[in-house]
Amino acid sequence: MSANCFPELGPERMFVEARLDVLLAAHQRRLLEDHLRRRLEKQSPKAGLSIVYDITHACNLRCLGCCVSAQYFRPGRDHPAALLKPSTAQVLKVLQKIRDYLDAHPDTPFFLNFGGGEIFMRPDMFELLEEASHLFGPDSVGFDTNGTLITAEEVARVAPQVSYIGISLDGLADYHNRWRGPSSIPLPVNGSRDPADSFQHTVAFIRRALEIPEVADRLEVTTVVTRHNLDQIPDLMRFLKRIGVRKYSIHRTMLVGRFADPSLVPDGPAYLRLFVAVLEANQELGLDVHLHHSLESIYATLLLGHDTYAADKLGYPDRRSSLGIGPTGEVYFDPWCMVPPWTMLSGGSLLDDGVTLGDIIHQNGGGMLEMARAYCSRHVRCLGCPQPCSGGSRIAAAADYLARNGGLSPNRVTENHLLAGLAQVDPACPLYWSGAVT
Ligand SMILES: C[S@@+](CC[C@H](N)C(=O)[O-])C[C@H]1O[C@@H](n2cnc3c(N)ncnc32)[C@H](O)[C@@H]1O
Ligand code: SF4
Repeated sequence: MSANCFPELGPERMFVEARLDVLLAAHQRRLLEDHLRRRLEKQSPKAGLSIVYDITHACNLRCLGCCVSAQYFRPGRDHPAALLKPSTAQVLKVLQKIRDYLDAHPDTPFFLNFGGGEIFMRPDMFELLEEASHLFGPDSVGFDTNGTLITAEEVARVAPQVSYIGISLDGLADYHNRWRGPSSIPLPVNGSRDPADSFQHTVAFIRRALEIPEVADRLEVTTVVTRHNLDQIPDLMRFLKRIGVRKYSIHRTMLVGRFADPSLVPDGPAYLRLFVAVLEANQELGLDVHLHHSLESIYATLLLGHDTYAADKLGYPDRRSSLGIGPTGEVYFDPWCMVPPWTMLSGGSLLDDGVTLGDIIHQNGGGMLEMARAYCSRHVRCLGCPQPCSGGSRIAAAADYLARNGGLSPNRVTENHLLAGLAQVDPACPLYWSGAVT
């Protein structure tokens, strides 16, 4: 037991230590602790506002587990109005309202990540990135893409306007292509030839992009893990290292949108095994690697005693959490709420005239901030678990609760089910599978 951080162990802490002793060999625990310490050192101590803004739910791929159930379109062939929903003017209106909020709350550290759908389905995407960069500064803007619709040269053009470029790669070729579904990719993009082979397209894009220093500095490859690709992650990391990738992160798998099969979601032991395997592989690779913050924050509390309630953050004990804004301008206390039934948790739409982001976030007795504070508070989240942990992901906890109660289907779920779910235990927590907090 490495109990140096906990000179006086109370019964709760002793229980956690005993649990960790069963799960981790001493050298594995050291590896995890060193990684988590480095990650904590990198975090800004200040409160902040972070937003994921989905500016389309249209996409040229059909990922089996897409969290926003993106609607499939063939770029260049279908011209649906959906591609420009919201309109350029509506996106600019939302961006301006965010700017107004920041002007009213000066010195709030801020980050805006454009998501989707596939943002490069939008013909106005370059204009939107330029405007966002102008409003918030390049250090505060980023985006996620599947890397199949844009060339490395085009990304080089927008690189100075952003500080984060996330590219999805969900495994080695077979898995990635199966998961990402039959695709529609205009030829030739980045020199690749087979429109059904999205792995080849995305990898060709990454290789070319890494040759451009301004892009390489900002590029991070991201993976969604399921029970079917967990074991290939170390090999995927070796492949990424070989092609020159420097930053790599592993998403938390969320049982939302098209991801409707609970048996594919890794459980707590599987995530912990993955975490150890990733760090062991990384000893030789030296990538800048991390797991989703909701997992790392649980481990940081349990292994290091890190108190996620210690700093004053915008409604969240875990300062890496974000708000979500969907294509209709609705604001959510978590970016995983962009599709039904989670959309019931909307705090209001920024496309409505007269509604400000400040109204939605701060409104007394029912604003976004109150809701986030209430459900992340220590005596509510994870059924009141006494650990000083932010409780991982509230949406993961609620989705697990709905699945266990046979109610994932949007038309069977009520707001009360969702709210009851938000108070449940995050299923990835090591204390959960021991039965300690159920
Ligand atoms: C919804 S996508 C939008 C951006 C782009 N189309 C892409 O796939 O990268 C944003 C991120 O969420 C990830 N994602 C998709 N479905 C997910 C799920 N069910 N759970 C967790 N992450 C998911 C994607 O892999 C991607 O990294
Ligand atoms: S995860 Fe991304 S690439 Fe896949 S369908 Fe959803 S939006 Fe499209």
